[in-house]
Amino acid sequence: MIILPINYSKSEGVKEDMNTKTVRISIIGFGNVGGGTAEVIRRKREEIAKKHGIDIKIVGIADLKGVIVNESGLSEDAIMKLNTGEKPADMTTLEVIKEVEHEVMVETTPTNVENGEPGLTHIITALESDRHVVTSNKGPLALQYRKLMQLAAQKGKELRFEASVGGAMPLISLVRENLAGNGIISIKGILNGTCNYILTRMVEEGLPYEHVLKEAQERGIAETDPSKDVEGIDTAVKLVILANSVFDRDVTYKDVEVEGITDITPEALKLANDAGYVIKLIGEVDRNGCQKVAPRLVPKHDPLNVGGTLNVATIKTDLAGDITVIGKGAGPIEAASAILSDIIGIYS
Ligand SMILES: NC(=O)c1ccc[n+]([C@@H]2O[C@H](COP(=O)([O-])OP(=O)(O)OC[C@H]3O[C@@H](n4cnc5c(N)ncnc54)[C@H](OP(=O)(O)O)[C@@H]3O)[C@@H](O)[C@H]2O)c1
Repeated sequence: MIILPINYSKSEGVKEDMNTKTVRISIIGFGNVGGGTAEVIRRKREEIAKKHGIDIKIVGIADLKGVIVNESGLSEDAIMKLNTGEKPADMTTLEVIKEVEHEVMVETTPTNVENGEPGLTHIITALESDRHVVTSNKGPLALQYRKLMQLAAQKGKELRFEASVGGAMPLISLVRENLAGNGIISIKGILNGTCNYILTRMVEEGLPYEHVLKEAQERGIAETDPSKDVEGIDTAVKLVILANSVFDRDVTYKDVEVEGITDITPEALKLANDAGYVIKLIGEVDRNGCQKVAPRLVPKHDPLNVGGTLNVATIKTDLAGDITVIGKGAGPIEAASAILSDIIGIYS
């Protein structure tokens, strides 16, 4: 649960005019990313109304602590109350999605790659209730991408998910919009900031994996149970979303060949370094059917050699050549940036 800053001041609100369309949203899952989304809407609401002609109003928020609803738009005080654990509305999460009038459901509950829940049910319910969906949640997309896209198409609604791969780093919309007309040959890159941080620190300090993992956990970069990150599963799940959305496949993360970083030693990194390389956990998907996650040697001068917690991806195209994007793969405001751009994208 994110605690919004103490100086979370009241915004003046947006003056309605004939060219401004009101877009009512719900936020389902009010932790880091859900809270970050409320915060960026607070900061940017007026600017977005002026530039894009849409006035985004949050009309419902739900997480495990409770639900708040106001179809005219929740006040900042009400949003703060959910942060302090108060429960003003007597509704379930699914009732908010189905019964509260709104246009876009933002789904930001935890990723579950076993069965996709609770996000999968939230997304299906929202589409069936004629809402557009914007999500940062990888689980439902990695397991049921095709079914969800078919449902969205059938209902004439959009399902957007830029934040689910690479956080703030524009990848899906870059390929779909800016590179439209290009054939995409492959996408490869670093899609997990925790692994990148661990490998970067191991090279810098010559320290063993276990030592750096502990440091990453103390700094809040790695989770208490880091297995999904360090065993490459998180990267595989993101690769599946790319394989399905960019290469039109119908795969799940079980179809990805995966090797993580747990066996990499400082000695291996030193040998690579002496030969002019770094070792990075690379996810790669291409149009010939490859979908693979493994530690790979990357030349030091290659654009994929970025350090710390950064994410990076090189998109190989038939017209534009190679395009590389680098950015922050995680963080509440960074992920919310992608969510906001998806919401605006629906109405552009
Ligand atoms: N954090 C990032 O930087 C980042 C970046 C890109 C994508 N993502 C993805 O975005 C999603 C959210 O990440 P996060 O970091 O914000 O997670 P988080 O801080 O754990 O927040 C998840 C929220 O979902 C709520 N929740 C859990 N089950 C629910 C249910 N059945 N109904 C309603 N709410 C429920 C939790 O409630 P309680 O707090 O009451 O338990 C919590 O508020 C995840 O799928 C993650 O993989 C995260």
